[in-house]
Amino acid sequence: MRAGFTSLDREVVAELAVRGELPPWLSGTLVRNGPAKFESGDRSFRHWFDGQAMLHRFAFGGGRVAYRNRFLETPSLRSVRDRGRIAFGEFATDPCRSIFARLFARSATSANANVNVLLGDDRDQALTETPIAVRFDPDTLATVGLTPSDDTIAGQVTTAHPHVAPRTGDLVNYVLKFGRRSLYQVYRQRGDTRELLAAVPADRPGYLHSFAITERHVVLVVFPFVVNPMSFLLRGKPFIENYRWRPELGTRFVVLSQEDGSVVADGRTAACFAFHHVNAYDEDGRVVVDICSYPDASVVDALYLDRVRGGAELPLAFPTRYTVDLVGGAVRARRLADEAMELPRISYRAHNGREYRCAYGVGAHGNARHDFLNQLVKLDVRSGRTTTWHEPGRYPGEPVFVAAPDARAEDDGVVLSVVLDAAAGRSCLLVLDATTFTELARAEVPHAIPFGFHGQFAAR
Ligand code: CO
Repeated sequence: MRAGFTSLDREVVAELAVRGELPPWLSGTLVRNGPAKFESGDRSFRHWFDGQAMLHRFAFGGGRVAYRNRFLETPSLRSVRDRGRIAFGEFATDPCRSIFARLFARSATSANANVNVLLGDDRDQALTETPIAVRFDPDTLATVGLTPSDDTIAGQVTTAHPHVAPRTGDLVNYVLKFGRRSLYQVYRQRGDTRELLAAVPADRPGYLHSFAITERHVVLVVFPFVVNPMSFLLRGKPFIENYRWRPELGTRFVVLSQEDGSVVADGRTAACFAFHHVNAYDEDGRVVVDICSYPDASVVDALYLDRVRGGAELPLAFPTRYTVDLVGGAVRARRLADEAMELPRISYRAHNGREYRCAYGVGAHGNARHDFLNQLVKLDVRSGRTTTWHEPGRYPGEPVFVAAPDARAEDDGVVLSVVLDAAAGRSCLLVLDATTFTELARAEVPHAIPFGFHGQFAAR
């Protein structure tokens, strides 16, 4: 699977050969984001998350698929590609600088937004965990510009997983501001206007890659992978290496009211770690939060490029349901299935923040830890039943669910996944029937697409 961690320098525009039959209703574009350049001159980035951002666009219509890919033109890329120099700090790689300068090294100016995209309303942008928006043209993928937010909700860290509030349609996210008392500043955004909803203080803030939303609540799940913000000043290490695994702290569930930002419940359970929430919803007197849960944060270390390329053991996440009592804050945990699952997606528009049944993700065939993620998984969260798609030597990425226009059932639609064929050194765009989880079609890409993170589909 090393081709998935190899730089792709080629930018192409191509009509893809399609095998099988695409549903006639499938019309729109899938834009995916992920790292595609892992070295600069003779220096290599250290971690999968450090690679320079590339966008990939698959346009569907009339049974055909058009493809193009393009690097995000950022200050970081220009330095890496044009000057052979790593000038900005990334997740786990620092530039060579004085300790004082390192404090600011992972600032918004790097703008290597390689994690996710936000589409639509003329605000197409690439997202990362520093609070900056990198706008791009949805047709050409050309970078339009960097727009740091210019209001008072300032901070150093955010998530690349904003949510749409199910009832209001507001965009919800948080910005973490480091300080003697750090603050998770949860905000909601309508148009370009952001409003602070709540500020949750923390002495030792945790690394939170995403959060949960329901119709009435926002839930911050604070895993005990925490940082003393002073260490950014004192220790001179890359961003993530300042974080420490402190299981004795347990995992904290902070349930916030979307109405007035008040803390409705604040509970703890045994230590765990996660990047991704599957979904969450309100029930009588409690909140249900489904998470792709690891026993600890060792997965962060396992994704250093030398380890993952060398076939080191990969920690696995399992879909786990946490219920938080709104009175008393008691938290209970229950594994939903014994099938590993990461990069989870749902029928978002219809079921985000609401009761649901179907989740899609990537997994590991036979829960084996010696290979990379090599299968797609569909999970029925009610019954715990799983269905998988697996072909030897193939490595699928995040499955994006697209609902059929006249969908009657939750899983009436397709799942789109970029799959690497390791032996052929090429990727394809795989289209599965989401109901049966069987192949409808695949479109061949003329090169191997490095393993990416997230993408979004827009019907346009
Ligand atoms: Co993510």
